[in-house]
Amino acid sequence: MRISVIGCGYLGAVHAAAMASIGHEVVGIDVDPRKIEALGRGEAPIYEPGLPELLRSGVESGALRFSTDIAESAGSAVHFVTVGTPQLPGSDAADMRFVRAAFTELAPHLREGDVVAGKSTVPVGTATELEEIVQTAGATLAWNPEFLREGWAVQDTLDPDRIVVGVRSGPEGERAAGVLREAYWKALEKDTPFIITDFATAELVKVSANAFLATKISFINAMAEIAEATGADVTQLADALGHDVRIGRRFLGAGIGFGGGCLPKDIRAFAARAEELGLRDSVGFLREVDAINLRRRERAVQLVLEETRGAIVGTRVAVLGAAFKPHSDDVRDSPALDVAVRLHGLGARVVVTDPQAVPNARALHPQLTYATSRDEALRDADVIVIVTEWDEYRRQMSPDDVAALTDGRIIVDGRNCLDAELWRAAGWRYRGMGRP
Ligand code: UDX
Repeated sequence: MRISVIGCGYLGAVHAAAMASIGHEVVGIDVDPRKIEALGRGEAPIYEPGLPELLRSGVESGALRFSTDIAESAGSAVHFVTVGTPQLPGSDAADMRFVRAAFTELAPHLREGDVVAGKSTVPVGTATELEEIVQTAGATLAWNPEFLREGWAVQDTLDPDRIVVGVRSGPEGERAAGVLREAYWKALEKDTPFIITDFATAELVKVSANAFLATKISFINAMAEIAEATGADVTQLADALGHDVRIGRRFLGAGIGFGGGCLPKDIRAFAARAEELGLRDSVGFLREVDAINLRRRERAVQLVLEETRGAIVGTRVAVLGAAFKPHSDDVRDSPALDVAVRLHGLGARVVVTDPQAVPNARALHPQLTYATSRDEALRDADVIVIVTEWDEYRRQMSPDDVAALTDGRIIVDGRNCLDAELWRAAGWRYRGMGRP
């Protein structure tokens, strides 16, 4: 099947490579010539395990190519629109300019019977708004949200939990869903649920899934606040809660909270859209979810202040982590970097390190000092703060080896990823989030 993918950011680059790997002939389109050149050489623009291999084999076999010219999408049976919907500056709403531009620019190249599948995360109601552009060209619109996680993007794209397709009811919509079934043939061999629904439901599955995940994290972080006041241990609480299969242990990791290019902006955009619809109260709790999340960053800073008894100015703090989560070089709305910036603002001598994200972090916050290795960051540190739970920090640090490098013996575990007893037994002052 001939497929075009409009927008080669995180989602689009992975989607294009994945589609080519299952036998489709794919063209990826993006307005950024540098990105297109790199992708055309089979180079991944982001750190994503498995993506470079997939890109290279696609490009080498000729099944995958990239272009800045949207006219190259002509002749494809399916056009996936995968452009970004970032937070609008100065507002909570999503910036829909890129989605609108993609649809408008694609329209002249559509043929009768083509399927346009929107994958971008959008406010509910968007598909209905965009449908006319597609219909005028004789093509059919489907809304096909994407649920991939950074760091697992290739696996999630090739082997998703479910495929959701929103279409208008009737024969046209049914046909479009059939075409998407063919596009996703490989996942469907594994009996992946293929859910056909209406536009609004398809759009809502995505935003409500992210809202649910964010709520789950903020729930446990709220419990961490209660644990801090009562002497309880939130990690044991989460383990005990998680045994109830109705609750489940995943996404009950208390710490400095969620960040990245999706959850924070998606819950804000959802709340903003609900307000536009006159439904402020329905998802008013998402404002609280956001507030709890942001408080936890401040709590990590407070722990450093407590441990240094307020003498933060000039204290050397090794910040381990900059990416918003491990297996990613993404620093968009990263709680890890936010903690580093706050400590720097208080006068600490902060040295940040991360196995993948230092270049992106440096570009965003050039005022901070960076180390290219963990040990370089640890050298002479008075305080260590772990803010991204990479294996290099979580599993591969022994308290004695670290003590040989640092001046101080204070460690703040912003991700509750270390064995507190082990560090305490080796003479460290260990502070976790929501742990006694
Ligand atoms: C998320 C959704 O999981 C994915 O389905 C959607 O398509 C895009 O948004 P992603 O942003 O890649 O994916 O990251 P995710 O793994 O969900 O983690 C988000 C944030 O939550 C990270 O900052 C992570 O550190 C934090 N988190 C996660 C916690 O603080 N505690 C947890 O228990 C789990």
